[in-house]
Amino acid sequence: MRKKIVAGNWKMNMNLQDGVALAKELNDTLTAQKPNCGVIICTPFIHLASIAQFLDQSVIGLGAENCADKEKGAYTGEVSAEMVKSTGAQYVIIGHSERRGYYNDTPEVLKEKVLLALKNGLKVIFCIGESLEEREANKQNEVVKAELEGSVFNLSAEEFKNIIVAYEPIWAIGTGKTATADQAEEIHAYIRSVIADKYGKEVADDTTILYGGSCKASNAPELFAKPDIDGGLIGGASLKAADFKGIIDAR
Ligand code: 13P
Repeated sequence: MRKKIVAGNWKMNMNLQDGVALAKELNDTLTAQKPNCGVIICTPFIHLASIAQFLDQSVIGLGAENCADKEKGAYTGEVSAEMVKSTGAQYVIIGHSERRGYYNDTPEVLKEKVLLALKNGLKVIFCIGESLEEREANKQNEVVKAELEGSVFNLSAEEFKNIIVAYEPIWAIGTGKTATADQAEEIHAYIRSVIADKYGKEVADDTTILYGGSCKASNAPELFAKPDIDGGLIGGASLKAADFKGIIDAR
């Protein structure tokens, strides 16, 4: 049975002190009252080592939001997958639309990042999703299929088991505009069928597919009730323990 997961993506928010305080609050709350699903927090690089010191990773997994597309060496300012892993983190988000859009993370670059993450024993939360224009032109299926083909379908079935897919329509991220539960279910089912065509039904049935984009405690129950929506990747609403907990409780 595939894992149900609620993951937070803090993005470029929280200084070290505030981030540590938020992670402590979540750790206290969720170790006292164990969640019904997997929980992951993905934080800026600089938080990882401090948070890994106290986080009970049997309850809350820890991840980075990105990693370099090179193994090591003269790449000033970059952080490698090996460095991420050495902090104690177990996950990394790769392919977020903000990385694709603002930092030129092309399919080729993302393919390298995914390979390096897996090589270093990290699990990957791989993000896909269409823009508003693409949705209006009814191209969303084409877009998500091409994003999978471009960066993760080179993996073996065994390697692909370390991929969590996150469908995040760009028009729903930070806009307050969520995909309806039916819209999200339709494309999640499509994504699963594309994975089944590539790797077979068993792998597809075992793949966790998260929804992301203005997900909050109020709309999470309807989204999570759908058979192909296995949880959420949460931006804004992961920055306050109570808001994030509200979504976790919906799963
Ligand atoms: P919001 O939840 O703020 O819309 O962000 C979603 C997201 O991009 C998570 O990766």
